[in-house]
Amino acid sequence: MSRTPELSSFLQHATALDLAMVAGWVTSDEETDIWSGGPVSFPILLEECRLAIGWDHAANRTLIDRDHVAGFGQIIDKPDARKHLARIIVDPETRGRGLGRRLVQGLMHEARRCGARCMSLNVHPGNETAIRLYASLGFVPAENPEPGRTGRFLYMECPA
Ligand SMILES: CC(C)(COP(=O)(O)OP(=O)(O)OC[C@H]1O[C@@H](n2cnc3c(N)ncnc32)[C@H](O)[C@@H]1OP(=O)(O)O)[C@@H](O)C(=O)NCCC(=O)NCCS
Repeated sequence: MSRTPELSSFLQHATALDLAMVAGWVTSDEETDIWSGGPVSFPILLEECRLAIGWDHAANRTLIDRDHVAGFGQIIDKPDARKHLARIIVDPETRGRGLGRRLVQGLMHEARRCGARCMSLNVHPGNETAIRLYASLGFVPAENPEPGRTGRFLYMECPA
């Protein structure tokens, strides 16, 4: 199992077809909640999902690894040059190979390039795999500026 995807993986603009594939990686209410942060219901209906995750107002990115869509994430503009990373997910078939790290690093790189002052994300407090990944990349728990919508999640920030 390769732990070095850096040479063969990159981010690109996600299409609606990509979103359909990503939605297929989520197979239960609980997984949908963890992935979407709340606004998407299972089973996922694509048009509803697009609206719920603000598709038209976000930078939607897929991680391409060896010519396949291996991951997905969004960068959402927030006030004061904060860039919020959301809906991060890796294909269940390829988890644990370093692609999640590559995906988040790519989103962070793009956020910085687009002038981020800081980056933020919400993560389910029981999602230890994701929390460990985010912490290793510099994210720390912080006060959530939008607690009403996502108060049950752990809010983390990382300076740009
Ligand atoms: C979270 C997720 C994106 C991580 O992707 P991944 O490709 O499996 O992660 P990586 O292989 O790059 O591992 C990155 C880090 O995650 C942690 N990690 C990965 N697999 C783990 C496991 N089975 N147990 C504990 N920690 C784990 C480790 O800290 C790892 O760092 P290391 O490489 O230094 O050991 C992936 O598990 C996923 O898609 N989960 C479902 C959706 C989700 O939870 N999204 C996050 C929403 S906030």
